[in-house]
This record gives sequence, C-alpha cells and structure tokens, in this order.
Amino acid sequence: MSSLTPLPFTRPKHILSARQFGRPFLDYMYELINQIRKFDKTKDGLMYLQSLLAHRRAMLYFTQPSTRTFLSFQAACHILGIKPAEIRDPSTSSERKGESLEDSLRTFASYVDLIVMRSPTAGLSDRIATLLDETPRPVPIINAGSGPDEHPTQALLDIYTLQRSFRSSSGIEGKTICMVGDLKRGRTVRSLSHLLTNYPGVRLIFCSPQAFRIEDDLRQFLRSGGVQFEETPDFHQAIAAADAIYMTRVQDEYDVQGSVKVDYQAYCLRYEHLERLKSHCVIMHPLPRRDELDPAIDADPRAKYWRQERNGMWTRVALITILMGVDNHIVLPTL
Ligand code: NCD
Repeated sequence: MSSLTPLPFTRPKHILSARQFGRPFLDYMYELINQIRKFDKTKDGLMYLQSLLAHRRAMLYFTQPSTRTFLSFQAACHILGIKPAEIRDPSTSSERKGESLEDSLRTFASYVDLIVMRSPTAGLSDRIATLLDETPRPVPIINAGSGPDEHPTQALLDIYTLQRSFRSSSGIEGKTICMVGDLKRGRTVRSLSHLLTNYPGVRLIFCSPQAFRIEDDLRQFLRSGGVQFEETPDFHQAIAAADAIYMTRVQDEYDVQGSVKVDYQAYCLRYEHLERLKSHCVIMHPLPRRDELDPAIDADPRAKYWRQERNGMWTRVALITILMGVDNHIVLPTL
C-alpha cells in the first residue's frame, strides 16, 4: 500500500509542544486516524498494523503518575508491533545511584528507537531532544506531559475528538469552546488552547475561580494571534454559551506550602446543569475526574469523554506512524 498524497507539512522529528503544529498537520492527522481505525475492524487489518513497526523498540519513561496516557501509548506500541520497555519509578533506575537525567535518557536512546516521556519538569523533553539530536544516535522524543507546561498529544486527541464531534456541523471553525477549572496549572488546557488558534472564528471562554486563571503567557499568545477569548468566574453563563465544554480537575499536585485552598464547588458540572447546555454541546474531560464531573452525566449523548479517552489510543498510533515514517503505508483519501 502507498499514500495517495504527499505530506502537506514537514515531518516532525519530535513531538514536544502543541505550538509546533499547524492546520495542514491537524487535517492530515484527522484523516490518518480515521483510516487507521478502519484497520481495527478485522484481524487482517490489525495484523497489518502490527507488521508496520515490528522491528522497532520504544521506551516509556513516565516519572509522574499516569493511567491513560501511559496505557494508550503502550497499547499504540502494541498495535504497531513496537516492543515497549518502561520506567515509571526513577528510584528503580540508575538515577538512584546519582546518574544525571541526561545520561539516563542517552542510555535509553542506545537501546530503543523512540522515547515517550512524562515528567514533572516543564521543558524537560525539549532539553532532552536537543541533547540527543547532537549525539550519533538521535531518536524521536514524544512529550507525554511536562509539568504544568505542555501535553501536546492530549491536545491532538482533543482536537480529533472535537473535529469528529462537529463533523456534521461544519467543523471546529466558529465554535465557542469553554474551558473550566484549574486553568493556571492544567497543561491540557494550555496545549489545547494553542492548537485551537488554528481554527478561524473559534471563541474561547476560560471559566475559573480567580486563583486558577490562565497564565499571562497564554493570554499574550492568544492576543497576538487575534483569538477571541474571555475570562469569567461565571460558570452558569459560560456553560450555556458553549458548543463544547472542557472540564478539568484541580491540579493540587503542584500546590506548595501555604497555597490557598480554593472552593471548587461552583466549577463542577452536575446532572442538573444538563438542561442549561446547548442540545449539541460536546462535553469533554481529559480525565481523571473527581467531583467536577458528575458520573450521572456519562449516559447523556453529549458526554464524549470516554470516546475521547479511546480516541487517545488511535491518535497516538497515528502520531507514532508519522514520526517513524510509516504513515505512507496507510491509504489516505485525497485531502
Ligand atoms: C491529564 C494530565 O496528565 O495532564 N491527564 C491525562 O493525561 N489524561 C489531566 C489531569 O491529570 O488532570
């Protein structure tokens, strides 16, 4: 099999930040994921996917807690035939003996062909990618979450979910997307906001308690891109105006001693709120959730977060095929 169209963008060497992706990439990724999902329908299709990277190995280096990002990357590796190794606790590696992170990562690169990393440190994956690029054995790095800073693969799967949800209502353009919760420290909101600047006419509503408002760098980025956005503490008004609501939890793992405890009760989506929402409103959450998203909402057709979670696996399969240069083995319709 071969691709019908040449790549409409420069193939990325790494996936480090949502800022590196433009509209041609996002449109291509959407079609690629849809094609890949067709292979899931038959055993032959899945065996074909497994043959694409059966000669490759990956390291999943996750030193911050993770359930779905870790498991979906692991599943994506399995789907493509890649053999994954993992470190989830640095106290079990030579970091415990005083080895620098840089040396540990360089060691992984000696044995594998791809490194997926999550860490509590903002900017770490960029630093490692730059370092490895200067060695004789550079390997692609995927940022699977870097502190409160970036979570580009989550944002890419969120875009896929939004685009799919709005496929019969002229796509993401012109939609009002409301982000709710801890917008100060929520990396998913930051990365998704960056990607949404690729869609003309999108209006963003950032709804949070005062203490959890977006950081100034994001505000500046949106202003300089001419993106229409507003910040409000008014939950009821914000959710009623939205075509999509993106709920998030308090990121209290970043609390430092003396942080103010914020009352989050006014930023929880409850079953009783459903009647206020637009009939086509898309409800999303990167998960895990706590009280901010009532499980009674799960059965409502507007709740898309469980699909969003599964979309994460297919998005990561697609991203790995692009990084490893085998996306051209998936037939795409002309874009
Ligand atoms: C998010 C994260 O890790 O930033 N989770 C995820 O990757 N699905 C959101 C969160 O932990 O709140």
